[in-house]
Amino acid sequence: MSNIFVSRSLDEIRFWSRIMKEHSLFLKLGFRCEDTQLINEANQFYALFDQLERKSHDFTLDADPQQIVRFNTEVHNAAVHIWAFKRKILGLVLTCQMPGANNFPLLIDHTSREANYFRTRLEQLNSGQLDPLPDAIINENVFFLRIMADHAKFIGHLLDPSERQLVEQARNFSHDFDQLLFQARDLDSMRPQSLTQPLLDQFLDQNRVSVASLRDFKKTARDLIEACKIKSIIHPLLADHVFREAERFLEIIDLFEQSLLHVQP
Ligand SMILES: [Fe+2]
Ligand SMILES: [Fe+2]
Repeated sequence: MSNIFVSRSLDEIRFWSRIMKEHSLFLKLGFRCEDTQLINEANQFYALFDQLERKSHDFTLDADPQQIVRFNTEVHNAAVHIWAFKRKILGLVLTCQMPGANNFPLLIDHTSREANYFRTRLEQLNSGQLDPLPDAIINENVFFLRIMADHAKFIGHLLDPSERQLVEQARNFSHDFDQLLFQARDLDSMRPQSLTQPLLDQFLDQNRVSVASLRDFKKTARDLIEACKIKSIIHPLLADHVFREAERFLEIIDLFEQSLLHVQP
């Protein structure tokens, strides 16, 4: 039991600490030259999550669970702080106190939702209160479908407008994922009656197909951006970042599908 706790904790921290580190960089790149205080804060968060990510790789699966409980608390604390930092920036942008800054409000909100997800997951791990499987399936899909829908919107808006075909493809993904998100919320509001194995199974199947296709689109976009073959203001690391988040969602869907198979109908 404790081994599962250690491996799940380390897996979450290894993935999300890198994500938080990269958010610090993206936010910094969107600030104006005169926002030196915010740039310093972003640099501090980058260093903090870089250090936590390294530390997570120093632990092995044989680590003492009590040590991991303390590490989870330490990382949780960092996640709470970066969440507050992101919400502060969102407030500044929405009150027009940073005219000319280059981070979309939805992107700032999006990164704060990811920080909040990370924080919640660490709380669940330390309290031993993970959601039961059917609830986890709906909650995770509602969270990640919205994340995917946002990514499609960001890609569509950060590509050069002259890349008409790619912009159109991104717009289609945005629409598809908005629809999937509405479906997921419908299933959510029909709880607990909607928590049947056939419905959840079909729900996962449908989502997996769309996420796989968005993942492939992101991979193509990333490769094109890295090779400097398309016009955009997307940082290559951001292209890779959203690709990895789609891969993460696919892995979660696969795990759910396997777990559902082992549940008696
Ligand atoms: Fe992210
Ligand atoms: Fe994201």
